[in-house]
Amino acid sequence: MPKRSPDHPVDARKRRASLPPACPAPDVATPLLGGLTPAQFMRKYWQKKPLLIRQAIPDIEAPLSREALFALADNDDVESRLITHFRRRWALEHGPFSPDELPTPKTRQWTLLVQGADLHDDRARALLERFRFAPDARLDDLMISYASDGGGVGPHFDSYDVFLLQVHGKRRWRIGAQRDLSLQEGLPLKILANFQPEEEWVLEPGDMLYLPPHIAHDGIAEGECMTCSIGFRSPSTNELTSQFLYWLAERGADNGNGKDTLYRDPDQPAVAHPAQLPAALVERVGGVLAKVRWSDADVSSFVGSWLSEPKANVVFDTPEKPLDEARFVAQAAKNGITLDRRTILLYDSRSYYLNGEQYLLKEARKWLPALADRRSMDGKRFVTLSHDSCVTALLHEWYRAGWIRTGVLA
Ligand code: SIN
Ligand code: CO
Repeated sequence: MPKRSPDHPVDARKRRASLPPACPAPDVATPLLGGLTPAQFMRKYWQKKPLLIRQAIPDIEAPLSREALFALADNDDVESRLITHFRRRWALEHGPFSPDELPTPKTRQWTLLVQGADLHDDRARALLERFRFAPDARLDDLMISYASDGGGVGPHFDSYDVFLLQVHGKRRWRIGAQRDLSLQEGLPLKILANFQPEEEWVLEPGDMLYLPPHIAHDGIAEGECMTCSIGFRSPSTNELTSQFLYWLAERGADNGNGKDTLYRDPDQPAVAHPAQLPAALVERVGGVLAKVRWSDADVSSFVGSWLSEPKANVVFDTPEKPLDEARFVAQAAKNGITLDRRTILLYDSRSYYLNGEQYLLKEARKWLPALADRRSMDGKRFVTLSHDSCVTALLHEWYRAGWIRTGVLA
């Protein structure tokens, strides 16, 4: 059979069908990435080097107004920080902040950072859909910052891949690929001790700067401005290891014989130095630990469960007057279904991972991957599944838990 070129229309259509409408397909050039295709961007820039993109989203509007952002920062469930640089002194406070606790927009040199805006607002979540050419498993959140004139968080580096999208007003960015990432001591936030910028640009609404982890950067507002940071997490080896070991312990580590056995020391002699740690005890513990085993399937289970775990502050809204299953099916058949903006749904060849829990794909293999990729299913597709009471019962349960809703977002 002749090989298809990567741009064969059938392949392109198939790839497109699995993506949300706002997300560029891997082989389609897009203004979002300065005329590159996502495939080219990932090859040349992702985790490698910065990229400035003028007018990545030309008609961009801030997903939230200044007032709506301030209102979000007043919410207990929202992670927010206020950073001020008054009289050349850096200060950091954690929210929530009532609007009268924030400096006025006319006061210079302050910034409000609101983390996880995508969890609280559908328009903020919709912005993330454009960036799903990178795997959901890497996506962290959308942070929105508001800065008054001269405001910023100081020269620093992040351990994140980040797209810094200017959504309102102007910000001057300076960046550098310096090796010296030492920090100033005694400050409440991480500020580089020796910032050596190499490039500098003023970003206007619609412009975007991609930075891989550990690129030094400093963004200063020119007039009041708002910036959206689309962040992708890169867990450190320490974090991965400790999370995996914790997961293994929770699951019940298999010490080779499939059973949990008690520590035993029938040959322990009487001791004259009770406080002394017996070498034989340490050796026995070492022997137990050396027998801890895990498989590739365990690693997949851990990664899927861990990366689909909602953040600690996430609370799902259950429907106030839930529809019974028959009414839910009728609504979904008419209007389709959409994953709630807080839902994380990942899958692999064997399982799916929904908000931190693993389930076997089994029959759901026919429909779940498409729902997870697009984060929605239209009414027509739902109708084709609605004869299967297992599917409708499962989706009704998700609806009652607040993990999906009826209707498809425009
Ligand atoms: C900001 O939006 O003010 C800071 C974003 C960043 O530097 O990572
Ligand atoms: Co940063």
